[in-house]
Amino acid sequence: MSLLEDLQWRYATKKMNGAKIPPEKLDYILEATRMAPSSSGLQPYKVIVISDPALLEKIKGIAYNQTQITDCSHLLVFAAWDSYSGERVTQVFNYMMDERGLPHSNMDAYKQTILGLYETKGTEWQAHHAAKQSYIAFAMAIAAAAEQKVDATPIEGFLPEKLDELLNLRDSGYHSTVLLPLGYREAGQDWLVNMKKVRMPKELFVTEMTLADAADNQEAPMEMNLDAFTQK
Ligand SMILES: Cc1cc2nc3c(=O)[nH]c(=O)nc-3n(C[C@H](O)[C@H](O)[C@H](O)COP(=O)(O)O)c2cc1C
Repeated sequence: MSLLEDLQWRYATKKMNGAKIPPEKLDYILEATRMAPSSSGLQPYKVIVISDPALLEKIKGIAYNQTQITDCSHLLVFAAWDSYSGERVTQVFNYMMDERGLPHSNMDAYKQTILGLYETKGTEWQAHHAAKQSYIAFAMAIAAAAEQKVDATPIEGFLPEKLDELLNLRDSGYHSTVLLPLGYREAGQDWLVNMKKVRMPKELFVTEMTLADAADNQEAPMEMNLDAFTQK
């Protein structure tokens, strides 16, 4: 099946049947999730995998009792960094350099540039920026699950502060962003399973632009030295 056919097949499953997904499929989905791109390659997020029924029951209670949480095989909790500290960024870049057999100092200029930039934006912006990165991985997980014929429900309907407390996330500098129960549909009890998939028509969704369509009153862009961003 092509990616487009897999995406047509998937839907935000409302009722799951409790069946377990094979470990190799879970690994495949997590590996696709790990392969997601992120800004500067920092991967400022992680994925927590939960299958303990007692913990899932507690999470359901803070997710508006959505039954997919307890009827799934595994629940993926996406959690993003609260902030971009020098320590965290250095750790990732050092690891990157070690993996590539390059000196840590290779990243010094770039690191200072992004840390300086992020600092001016404040921690609220940083937490939001990290959360956006986690959604890229989340989308990869959804697509990989569809490819494996594993059902999934994207879930933002939960109380993040309560979940952070339950999973002790704040202590480690993370906050939950979005949930993804993985499992199998209970087609006979799922009102959405046979509904037409609806998306905005392509002509409304995709806009082609030329310079003639663009605002022509823009000031010339500020001169910026991008050496730190483009260095090899
Ligand atoms: C970020 C995000 C959050 C969502 N939160 C929920 C949710 O809490 N509960 C739910 O049943 N569906 C949730 N959905 C599912 C959407 O309603 C669904 O993806 C959308 O209507 C498109 O339908 P489809 O996924 O079946 O193609 C969420 C989807 C996304 C992408």
